Amino acid sequence: MSTAKDILILGIESSCDETAASVVKNGRVILSNCIASQADFHEQYGGVVPELASRMHIDAVYPTVSKALSDAGITLNDIDAVAVTYGPGLVGALLVGLSCAKGLCEVSGKPLVGVNHLKGHIAANYLCFEELEPPFLCLCVSGGNSMIVRVDDYTDMKVLGRTRDDAAGEAIDKIARVVGLGYPGGPKMDKAGQGGDVTRYVFSKTHMADTLDFSFSGLKTSALNLINGLRQKGEEIELKDFAASYQQAIADALLKNTMTAAEQTGIKKLCLAGGVSANSFLRNTFDKAAKKRGIKLYYPELKYCTDNAAMIASCGYYEFKDGKRDTLDLNAYPSLQM
Ligand code: KG4
Repeated sequence: MSTAKDILILGIESSCDETAASVVKNGRVILSNCIASQADFHEQYGGVVPELASRMHIDAVYPTVSKALSDAGITLNDIDAVAVTYGPGLVGALLVGLSCAKGLCEVSGKPLVGVNHLKGHIAANYLCFEELEPPFLCLCVSGGNSMIVRVDDYTDMKVLGRTRDDAAGEAIDKIARVVGLGYPGGPKMDKAGQGGDVTRYVFSKTHMADTLDFSFSGLKTSALNLINGLRQKGEEIELKDFAASYQQAIADALLKNTMTAAEQTGIKKLCLAGGVSANSFLRNTFDKAAKKRGIKLYYPELKYCTDNAAMIASCGYYEFKDGKRDTLDLNAYPSLQM
């Protein structure tokens, strides 16, 4: 039951292929969490078709918001603010959630708080670990981004390193498609590699001195060359070992720079966030390394790793408490940075 001091935030997320709405109390307690996923629909095209995604968001957004409010047992009048993802993401998709949020704010007079989707992914950890507080380091890895972030406070963070080309999720998804696993590639690759030999296939790695930045395009090209080279000889890769080796190579690359960041900053608290943080190879690799180095490691439950609106509401709560208010002319920013 909410008390007068409780702050209720309605979160709305529509940056890619999930239409999501959620009500979160005081940034930490999920009162409802509704997701209408389009993943099954886009599977037939081998990836998200932006225009179709926007249209499906239009159909789903109001029913999803209504369900989030009714599941929480409240009405629009009971919330303190509407938090909505305004970037990064697909512009048409973002505009649907944003327009819905603005409409709700216009009719109710409630404040609008625009949320950076990447900051939302980081906030997913607050929903799963009530004791977690900044400062900490966060490895944020999704379909479109890979970055190491120093989270100094709930709303104050600095990117220490980011990918210079492909995101880790993109590197997994693209190779998953080439080996015939289809879309969404990440979870399928993860499953395909279970029990595989992580040392069987070797991929060339990119070495960049004096930076915490990543590069995954060389690794991806090396995997493609391996597949094509074998196919020219009339052979196929052994999928289980290939999937295991490839994901391990990505996890190792992410680990190396993240642990360097931990050494350089002296921070002993580390979170994983974003869709790729669901990856079992990544989790196992980080589990072992964190234990060895005395680092406390956090990663969200699987359902909060991928896109959801509870993380947007949580992040929106901290932005709201920090005084952030947006006007109704807030636009969508497909390439929004941290
Ligand atoms: O965070 P997210 O849901 O959306 C973005 O904000 O990008 O991340 C989606 C990415 C996709 O690349 C998807 O393949 C990947 O997360 N992903 C995974 C796993 N589950 C989702 N990648 C590897 N292993 C998984 N288990």
